[in-house]
Order: sequence, then C-alpha cells, then structure tokens
Amino acid sequence: MRVPVLEDLPDLDGRRVLLRADFNVPLQDGAITDDLRIRAALPTIGWLQERGATVTACSHLGRPKGAPDPKYSMDPVRRRLDELAPGVELLENLRFDPGETANDPVFVQRLIEGQDAYVDDAFGAAHRAHASIVGPPQFLPSAAGRLLAREVEVLLGLRTSPKRPFVAVLGGAKVSDKIGVIDALLDVVDALVIGGGMCFTFLKAQGHSVGASLLEDDQVDTCRRLLEGGKPIHLPSDITALGPNEEEVRQLGVDLPDGWKGLDIGPGSAAEFSDVILDARTIFWNGPMGVFEDERFAAGTRTVAEAVAETKGFSVVGGGDSAAALAQFGLDDDVDHVSTGGGASLELLEEGDLPGLEALRKAPNAGK
Ligand code: 3PG
Ligand code: MG
Repeated sequence: MRVPVLEDLPDLDGRRVLLRADFNVPLQDGAITDDLRIRAALPTIGWLQERGATVTACSHLGRPKGAPDPKYSMDPVRRRLDELAPGVELLENLRFDPGETANDPVFVQRLIEGQDAYVDDAFGAAHRAHASIVGPPQFLPSAAGRLLAREVEVLLGLRTSPKRPFVAVLGGAKVSDKIGVIDALLDVVDALVIGGGMCFTFLKAQGHSVGASLLEDDQVDTCRRLLEGGKPIHLPSDITALGPNEEEVRQLGVDLPDGWKGLDIGPGSAAEFSDVILDARTIFWNGPMGVFEDERFAAGTRTVAEAVAETKGFSVVGGGDSAAALAQFGLDDDVDHVSTGGGASLELLEEGDLPGLEALRKAPNAGK
C-alpha cells in the first residue's frame, strides 16, 4: 500500500483537519533562532486552507518530561506561525502529556476529537511511534503533507536510484550513533567520506594514535570491519588539534601526540574531501567535520559545505548540525535539498521506512 497524499483526502470544505507538524525549532532565550521547520509546513497549510479546511496544528518542542514546562511552551512558535499562516490554531506542546511518547490510546482520542481528517507533515518526527504520529491514521482519513512526501521522495531516491558516483559525507561525534546508517549507506554509495569526532575511532582502527581526541574504544573493531569491507572510505590525512594547554592550535598529521585533541579535519583533508565531493553526481552530507561553532575549528566544515554547495551533482544535506553549518556559511540556498529531519533522515536511509509512513499506509483512505 502506498502512503496517501493530500489529493487522497475527501472533500475538506468546511471540515476540520489535524495537522501534525515538526515545529521543534531551535530556541535561544525564548526566541526562535531558525524558523525553517515552520516555513517548511506552509505549502501544506496553504493547500488545506485553500480547500476550505480549518487547520489545527500540533507539535512537540524539546524534550519536556510529560508535564507542562514553561521553558518548552509553544508560545514563540505560535507567534511566528500566526505571522506566517494566520488562522491556524496551534495546540500546546504534545509532550506536556505523558500520553504522547507513550502512544496512549486515550490521548489519541483526545487529539482527534472533533477532527475530520489528519495530515502528517512532521518529517523530523516520523521516526517516533508517538501518539500524534501513529494514532490518528487509525481513525481518520489521512495523508502525508507536501514536506513529508518530498523528504521521502528525495531520501528514498538516494537509496534506489542515485546518479553515480554517489558519495556520502558523514561527520558528527559518535560512530555508535551512526553504525546502522553507515552499514546501509555502504551498500549503495560509491565512496564514503568520514570526518568529525567519529573519524578518530576509524583512525585508531588503522593503528594511528589519536591523542586526547574523542574515541569509542568499543567501536574500533566495528570500524576495522567497515574499513575492510571493500568500499572506498576516505579518512582525514591531517588534523587541526588543540594542545594540552587548551590554547595552542596546530595542524598535525593523523598521529596525534598525547594530550592533543583533534577538533577539525586539516586543510589537506578538506581539499581531498572537496575533490571527492566535486566529482560526485549525488551527495549526501550529514554531520559537521569539526567543532565549527568555534572559528578555530570551522575551516574543515566550511570547505566541505562549500564543495557540497558548488557541486553540479544532486546535493542533499540532512541533520540539524549540518543544516545549521550551511546557514552559518550562507550556503543553505545552494544545495538541492536540506532535510528538516536529523534522526528521521538517517533512519529512513537505514531502514527504507518510518513508523509515521507505516501508519499512513494503514489509514482508512489509503486504498489497497
Ligand atoms: C528532531 O529535532 O530531531 C525531531 O523534532 C525529533 O525530536 P526528538 O529527537 O526529541 O524526538
Ligand atoms: Mg533529534
């Protein structure tokens, strides 16, 4: 069965639609620092309103512990949504109720009360089997919104029909978080490029000394297995490291002295990674190459971001950190697709499906 889309909904004129969005936006001192996830829902909201529907939106924000917490109030989101899409009601943070993450049937019934249809546009949360994601499609005619449908089309397209060469660039702190997706990507990519904190566990597996860098000792064997798997895996050949005095910064080779902490790939590695990216016809990038929030360790991520923006190939960026890096360097308009999902985009690449999609495929209007 396929995932129903907006056109599969019954006539919505004068009807009420519950919209699950992912308005889990970054906040600083109560102000939204990036409203991408709100703007990303506008095409779906517009479509519903044009058809005469009254839209009630709902979302989680942060990770409150199943009880109201003013820090995670939806108020800032509600104000922004009101500017961008007047006339949409927004429920309070779904995770203020323990029934949301517990997928409690009673909470589901409260959510759908008085609603005639359900639309899921919360791609970033589609990997969570929570009440607002998997509950309503059991009862209401349901559909994937435009954002969810587009994310799925792009990301599944990477798995099934990438133009080659297809190169995935992965960064971020932990190998253990990404083993599943690395395994899955190695089946479909032509080459994998690895930077960020997790490169040190790979370098260690090659017999290098990693100084005081991030290291997951229990993943070294796994990294060795991946390196011996036959697909090219590009690792850094130089490192920008912070000295034991926490002040001195040096460009070093891949064998770091005791006490030195690798916090970015070096300029040689950045140039090599760039060449691989520029030669690719499909690029997927997730995770920064270093601690880019600190200008001393931003160069590797900047060079990779520039190559991803510049490549003539089809470029997809997933994950909050990489998207934030792109925005910081002013390059977010230069890639083909910036995913609104972090964990969701990785899980979709890994599994080829998500709980939110499965639920929509079982909706009463999904057809056989
Ligand atoms: C995200 O920001 O990754 C999504 O909104 C999901 O949030 P969660 O990881 O707290 O479930
Ligand atoms: Mg997350």
